[in-house]
Amino acid sequence: MNNLSLFLILSLSISFAASSTLLDKSFMHCMLTKVHNSIEKTVFINSSSLLYPKVLESLEQNPRWLSSSNKPLLIVTPSHESEIQQAILCSKEIGLQVRVISGGHDYEGLSYICKTPFVLIDLVNIRSIDIDIADESAWIQAGATLGELYYKISKTSRVHGFPAGTCPSVGIGGHISGGGFGTLSRKHGLAADHVIDANLIDVNGKTHDRKSMGEEVFWAIRGGSATSFGIILAWKIKLVKVPSIVTAFTIEITSEQEATKLIHRWQYIEHKLHQDLFIRVLAQNNGPNPKRIKAIFNSLFLGGKEKLITIMNSSFPELGLRLKDCIEMSWIQSTLYIAGYKNSDPLEFLLNRTTNYKSSFKAKSDYVKKPIPETGFAGIWRMLRKEDSFALLIMEPYGGKMNEISESEIPFPHRKGNLYNIQYMVKWDKNGIEESKRHIKWMRKLYRYMSPYVSKSPRTAYFNYKDLDLGSNKNRNTSYSEASVWGIKYFKGNFRRLAEIKTKFDPQNFFRNEQSIPLIK
Ligand SMILES: Cc1cc2nc3c(=O)[nH]c(=O)nc-3n(C[C@H](O)[C@H](O)[C@H](O)COP(=O)(O)OP(=O)(O)OC[C@H]3O[C@@H](n4cnc5c(N)ncnc54)[C@H](O)[C@@H]3O)c2cc1C
Ligand SMILES: *[C@@H]1O[C@H](CO)[C@@H](O)[C@H](O)[C@H]1NC(C)=O
Ligand SMILES: *[C@@H]1O[C@H](CO)[C@@H](O)[C@H](O)[C@H]1NC(C)=O
Ligand SMILES: *[C@@H]1O[C@H](CO)[C@@H](O)[C@H](O)[C@H]1NC(C)=O
Ligand SMILES: *[C@@H]1O[C@H](CO)[C@@H](O)[C@H](O)[C@H]1NC(C)=O
Repeated sequence: MNNLSLFLILSLSISFAASSTLLDKSFMHCMLTKVHNSIEKTVFINSSSLLYPKVLESLEQNPRWLSSSNKPLLIVTPSHESEIQQAILCSKEIGLQVRVISGGHDYEGLSYICKTPFVLIDLVNIRSIDIDIADESAWIQAGATLGELYYKISKTSRVHGFPAGTCPSVGIGGHISGGGFGTLSRKHGLAADHVIDANLIDVNGKTHDRKSMGEEVFWAIRGGSATSFGIILAWKIKLVKVPSIVTAFTIEITSEQEATKLIHRWQYIEHKLHQDLFIRVLAQNNGPNPKRIKAIFNSLFLGGKEKLITIMNSSFPELGLRLKDCIEMSWIQSTLYIAGYKNSDPLEFLLNRTTNYKSSFKAKSDYVKKPIPETGFAGIWRMLRKEDSFALLIMEPYGGKMNEISESEIPFPHRKGNLYNIQYMVKWDKNGIEESKRHIKWMRKLYRYMSPYVSKSPRTAYFNYKDLDLGSNKNRNTSYSEASVWGIKYFKGNFRRLAEIKTKFDPQNFFRNEQSIPLIK
């Protein structure tokens, strides 16, 4: 337990007497009258509390909004399902919005900032993980992180794993709601492809399972913005088998010319490689001055190093992989390694709920369907050199299992025909509006530069890399057609079905944010 959670537990005897505002007083009053049994366990932190800035800061994984005025009236930290149900009912009764936070990694801060008065429901205490290894399945509460899940699986079995993202502090609640891509996705698909049941609390405070929510809603929440439909309490997932030994490597290329040649070549093979082999590329400016381009080939292979060398020798000999570049380890060590730790670091690092890379950032994403010519990369390097802060492209290989799942199996539609995904990211340490503006402007310019090279009509994007530049419904009721501008980019032909399901399940649009699924008339 870290100091902060200890501090929270010690501060349970919050006095509800003095009221700074009417709204938070009425909310607490409502909660107190409705949840008699467990209310002592619920932590409330209001904006006049000394704890408030510290807790809020610990929740925000992108500090870009530290000075934002759109902060929660109250932070509620429930320990039990009934408190979440009541928090929904009380918010509705008083006319407040709710926002729910699991791991806090939302790219646009939508889990913790909101333009209208709202209650923040923090699921940090809702995070138990129950693994049934005989059934190869697990129930995971939404506040658990990927790292906690991976760690818990490894304590139960050396030959099981789960296909999900590479950053251990990402929350299960938000991650599966938008898809969930990682090193095992070429072999097994997305995290959301492995959900077999879920508990979802609706706008009336009722908890559903798969059967009572129905197959339509169950379809929608697996990658289609679960937060538009209610609050996920837990997911039931199917685990996958992993070999007891896997191999990882990282090769850095510091010559710009060589980087161009290798990445250009990589585009032709990465999506066709053996499904057990995942090779991603991180292309970044390496500062501070002068800016130099560096390409990092970062890979996980589900097998031993001899077999990997043989595969690489026949499919990507240009990279020149040697036995001594290959590191054999267990799958759980590979999750640490891929996250940027040393594979010999203690596995307990996976339990750290703060991202290693916490700093202000702006990101965008694209899908590539045709290899980009070498001249295209030359232009990307020119752009990267112009940015004075740390900027990078993360290019992740698709193909394999991703090609075998149909576009409408779940709302995530980016399947066959996509060679790879690009995530653009720029990070900065100094906070402030002018500073942010400058980096965001650069990011938009890069995005414009990329338009000839990436998917078109629609220019698609990955919902988990949320980007309000694509359009926003401004946290209001907007028409379906207005919201389609961004909705089709994330969900293609599935967007309309999501809106139809939304309209039936949450007809008042209670669960909403700047990019929630709209109602359809
Ligand atoms: C450093 C970093 C690394 C990443 N790496 C990957 C990666 O490898 N692969 C990948 O696919 N993605 C990756 N992502 C993106 C990540 O999957 C999304 O940002 C995801 O939404 C984060 O989930 P969260 O619970 O941490 O975030 P939160 O900010 O808590 O939530 C994100 C959204 O989901 C909603 N939400 C959260 N919990 C619930 C719930 N219980 N019920 C309903 N709605 C809920 C929130 O309100 C918000 O709208 C990464 C992000 C970061 C910052
Ligand atoms: C807010 O929290 C502070 C500190 O715990 C407390 O003194 C104050 O009474 C609270 N305000 C309301 C409205 O409950
Ligand atoms: C790689 O392939 C070449 C020829 O195709 C062969 O001569 C060489 O021995 C192979 N190397 C390894 C390590 O398999
Ligand atoms: C968790 O990670 C953060 C960021 O890297 C670091 O500052 C902190 O010390 C880590 N905490 C633990 C307990 O490892
Ligand atoms: C949105 O529309 C629904 C249904 O017409 C209505 O009940 C609700 O009050 C509206 N919400 C907002 C924020 O305008």
